[in-house]
Amino acid sequence: MSKLVIASGALGRVPLVVGRPNGSPVAIVGDRRLRPALDRLERALAARGFRTTTVTVRANEALKSLSALEPLYGKLLRAGLDRRSTIVGVGGGTIGDAVGFLAATYLRGVRFVSVPTTLLADVDSALGGKTGVNHELGKNLIGVFSQPETIVVDPALLRTLDARDRISGLGEIVKYGLIADPALYRSLRERWRELVELREPYTSKTIRRCLAIKARIVAADERELTGLREQLNFGHTVAHALEAVAGFGTLRHGEAVIVGMRAATRLSALRGTLSAGAAAEIDAFLGALPVPPKWRRAPASAVAAATRHDKKRTAKGLRFVLLDRIGHTVRADGVSTEELVHVLREVGFR
Ligand SMILES: NC(=O)c1ccc[n+]([C@@H]2O[C@H](COP(=O)([O-])OP(=O)(O)OC[C@H]3O[C@@H](n4cnc5c(N)ncnc54)[C@H](O)[C@@H]3O)[C@@H](O)[C@H]2O)c1
Ligand SMILES: [Zn+2]
Repeated sequence: MSKLVIASGALGRVPLVVGRPNGSPVAIVGDRRLRPALDRLERALAARGFRTTTVTVRANEALKSLSALEPLYGKLLRAGLDRRSTIVGVGGGTIGDAVGFLAATYLRGVRFVSVPTTLLADVDSALGGKTGVNHELGKNLIGVFSQPETIVVDPALLRTLDARDRISGLGEIVKYGLIADPALYRSLRERWRELVELREPYTSKTIRRCLAIKARIVAADERELTGLREQLNFGHTVAHALEAVAGFGTLRHGEAVIVGMRAATRLSALRGTLSAGAAAEIDAFLGALPVPPKWRRAPASAVAAATRHDKKRTAKGLRFVLLDRIGHTVRADGVSTEELVHVLREVGFR
């Protein structure tokens, strides 16, 4: 598992994390919106004697494609990165997924240090070793499991994050509460606004708590083989479908997860694993979080159809992660399109 450094100002520790200069260049591949942070990092590395090359990219889902990565391999090759080089990825989840894949495949894999810069990446995507890109038939269909050597979480970098991206991170944080930590869920019901405002120490404490949950689950099932890791996908079958059905007002990943968790919660009640009362309470909380409402224009049937390429689909139908109580999940197999359309309509799809 990756080493973790969590502290306000931790960006400044990246040179120490990279180690001693060994003559091979270090590449910083980062979100171009984070130019000031990338410049600071470059200077800090140079001050310790590293040769660096900085590649900035536009961070969005389009970066997560084989064609968008192709020129990046060329840039690294031309900059002389070799097997003993390190790539430092600086940005949100799209950077982590794409640059993690780049690092895992460049010259069959070089050292990768991940510096997440969104709340979502801090609590979720940076940890766990899932790297990869999308295919036109679905999200995250191409990739490799590859753990970053070190993850450097610097909550001070989140200050510039816009409101929607904060809510997006909150979506994954609520997920941890629902699947694994009832006390976390209860505290979020009272205090979620503190996270949106990035208030300390609540924000750092919550990030640590989420990472601890994720680390425990990933360690028990690193390659998603035993089914344990699947619980992290709570809300994601519908979220991925919603993200794939473009044109209905693009949602941030975590916003889509909020909507997806509402559907999964309703499905838990429909299947009888969760009491109707608990489901209504969770749905009311999730439904009150500020997510732009345009997704409601998507036809339930189109969202259900978009789950066709879900990696969790089997011949018997869709496999869903459901709740059997707050803080605990169960697996449901063979969920039919009709059941799915039913709960999608319940949460407000057309
Ligand atoms: N690998 C995993 O386990 C895993 C888990 C969850 C999500 N994901 C993936 O993560 C992606 C979503 O992550 P994301 O929301 O972080 O995406 P992102 O990288 O696109 O970042 C969201 C937005 O925030 C901006 N941004 C980033 N850091 C900023 C900062 N410090 N200040 C201001 N703006 C900043 C970006 O430019 C972008 O516009 C999706 O592709 C999803 O599939 C992967
Ligand atoms: Zn997610």
